[in-house]
Amino acid sequence: MTPRTYFLETFGCQMNVLDSELVDGQLRDMGLRPAATPEQADVVLFNTCSVRQHAEDKVMSRLGRLKRQKTRRPETVIGVIGCMAERQKEDLFVHVPHLDLICGPGEIHRLPALIERVWQHHDRVVALAGSQSRRTDVLQRGLIEDDLEALDLSRRPGQGGGGLQAYVRVQRGCDKFCTYCIVPLTRGPERSRPPDHVVTEARRLADSGFREITLLGQTVNSYLYGEDGRTVRFAQLLERVHDIESLDRIRFVTSFPADWDEDIFRVMRDCPRICPYLHIPAQSGSDRILKAMKRGYTVAEYLDLMDLARKYCPDIALAGDMIVGFCGETEDDFRATVELVRRVQYKSLFVFKYSPRPGTAADRNREDDVPYDVKVRRNNELLRVQSEVSLRHRRSLIGSTVQVLVEGFSKSARKLRSMEPSAAGSTQGSESSPRTAPTPPPATARQLVGRTPHDLIAVFDGDPSLIGAIAAVQVESASALTLFGRVQSVVSPSRSH
Ligand code: 5AD
Ligand code: SF4
Repeated sequence: MTPRTYFLETFGCQMNVLDSELVDGQLRDMGLRPAATPEQADVVLFNTCSVRQHAEDKVMSRLGRLKRQKTRRPETVIGVIGCMAERQKEDLFVHVPHLDLICGPGEIHRLPALIERVWQHHDRVVALAGSQSRRTDVLQRGLIEDDLEALDLSRRPGQGGGGLQAYVRVQRGCDKFCTYCIVPLTRGPERSRPPDHVVTEARRLADSGFREITLLGQTVNSYLYGEDGRTVRFAQLLERVHDIESLDRIRFVTSFPADWDEDIFRVMRDCPRICPYLHIPAQSGSDRILKAMKRGYTVAEYLDLMDLARKYCPDIALAGDMIVGFCGETEDDFRATVELVRRVQYKSLFVFKYSPRPGTAADRNREDDVPYDVKVRRNNELLRVQSEVSLRHRRSLIGSTVQVLVEGFSKSARKLRSMEPSAAGSTQGSESSPRTAPTPPPATARQLVGRTPHDLIAVFDGDPSLIGAIAAVQVESASALTLFGRVQSVVSPSRSH
């Protein structure tokens, strides 16, 4: 009998990318093989995002296309996992009658059993944070978290040829309840993972050849774990991860300004392999809007924090998120956001048009009163401002040498744009890319691409054996998105050659 096959498509943030990696491992352990398209697969799963309506619409359209396949081959298992499952719950069956499986992000360890159940009983199955079966699990075995931890720790990174960069979760969920945000409702309360588990996972990745890891949390700097009568905070966790000497680069995302702890800057300053990169969203440059968003800081406090960051790490690359068109945002509020973007001089910025999410405080209590065309205009204007800032910064690097972790071939200028953090398709799901970037030089077959410690994209001609290496690249020209340069030397050769 030919083995059954699966197709798994991932939407949304880095947390979903990591969850999908774990789901992928589970499906392979069940003996399933990957299929190239959903039409060829026996199990089709979408790992979904609910942060904006647009992300949910995309999944609905994918699901719609599978209706005929389900009629033709009723044994195909179609499932929605992740945040959209948790947000819409069983209502999804009403909108998508050919759906078999709904599984929230905190239940993915149960996927093999759920799929088996559909196969055996031709049942529809649901696993959600509030579901009856979960309550039984918690009562019977005390800690559902043990299963989630076991799944995280079951990761066998490096299988199938190793990799360069990997994510390690340090936290689940979020307690902040920013008024616009669905995440606390879909991913549940904030729980920090035991530091030993984080370090063990990071060490395993390093041992199997990974050079860079990114520690992941919705508010990563709020990390707090009680251990042997004392608490481990994020600064200490970072130091412990930095003790893994074979890791070349350590990053962390996303930081929450109101919970910042100065010790983290000290650790960043003193630990050379922690990248001078900080993704620390402001969300708005207006105190009135920040209050309405319940972010817990003022613009002045945010700016003081950015000054402190530069005091400790003068060349730090700051990256941010901004929401335009939040409820009640006036032209003056928006001007204040533009002003903040000019002041901070981000190296990259993700800009989002406010999208009301059912169940959030903003959706309950405030009117989505900024017209869509105004949101679009503000979105484009902010990207234009950021594009100027980005271009000026990248041009200032011409003539200098940057260290690039070489990721692979640069296929075309178009591909490059899709890799840029503020472009569509990025893991953060930002919506548009700056428009004023000059056209990059034509790509050649031997053009390689990689990233600097500051998370800048660099493109250069080079031998394929450089893939996986860290190279010193002299910057010769730049667009708002990309540095173009020439390899000067190999700082550290690829570990797989
Ligand atoms: N509408 C628009 N953007 C949102 N974000 C979160 N919720 C919403 C929403 N309802 C943005 C924030 C966050 C990023 C991941 O998504 O900027 O930092
Ligand atoms: Fe959402 Fe705010 Fe939590 Fe970030 S900190 S995940 S924006 S609630």
